[in-house]
Amino acid sequence: MGDSERSRRVSIAPSILSADFAQLARDVECVAAQTDLLHVDVMDGHFVPNLTIGPPVVAALRRHSRAYLDCHLMITDPADYLGAFASAGASGCSVHVEVGDTEALIGQMRDLGLDAGLAVNPETPFEVFAPFLGQIDLVLLMTVHPGFGGQSFMAEVLPKIARTASALESGGHPAVIQVDGGIDPTTAPRTAEAGARAFVAGSAIFGRDDPLEAAAELRRSVGGEGAARPWHHPGDG
Ligand code: DX5
Ligand code: ZN
Repeated sequence: MGDSERSRRVSIAPSILSADFAQLARDVECVAAQTDLLHVDVMDGHFVPNLTIGPPVVAALRRHSRAYLDCHLMITDPADYLGAFASAGASGCSVHVEVGDTEALIGQMRDLGLDAGLAVNPETPFEVFAPFLGQIDLVLLMTVHPGFGGQSFMAEVLPKIARTASALESGGHPAVIQVDGGIDPTTAPRTAEAGARAFVAGSAIFGRDDPLEAAAELRRSVGGEGAARPWHHPGDG
């Protein structure tokens, strides 16, 4: 695959935060044909003012699905839980750069066989996460303040997306830029233009009457065919 072909490929990441938690297996199956990564929002009531789900739900999902489980850890102490997520069947985890100890956390994710992601709040400047761009698989640029689904997209993050994309390109780094928050067929193309290649959407997929068609529409909005990279669950070869 050449660079220009790769740069057009996009990944769709339905966020189960907006799914029916009492019908998770059904909802995940419903969008499987349009899912490159299944985005799992983990909140601890401390890093963000909300509580969601943890490793037991990841383990339950893993029993029902072969999807790439992309766990977004909005938690203050990820070091204490990464092992539990890996054992539960997570494919990759993203830790927030704002919690600190980033270098050690990346090493811990690698040691556990997890893909390593770094998540960044809207107000956190480029310089804070730039030193790690060569060490990670995914850089998750939040386009809302983390904690809740259904918020409005923050266009002020667009310049940071563009700056990150150009730093990845000039450094020859393979990390994929993921955007998360208020992503829909109107906002996603603006982030794609800036360099985003993986698109998390909760309400724009599970909040719609036909989630599978909504995910397909999101993919079409960013001109996408295949995935931005082949997302394999570790151990699946
Ligand atoms: C917010 C979460 C998002 C959330 C996005 O803190 O990180 O993944 O599910 O929801 P929407 O797509 O509704 O903005
Ligand atoms: Zn998220």
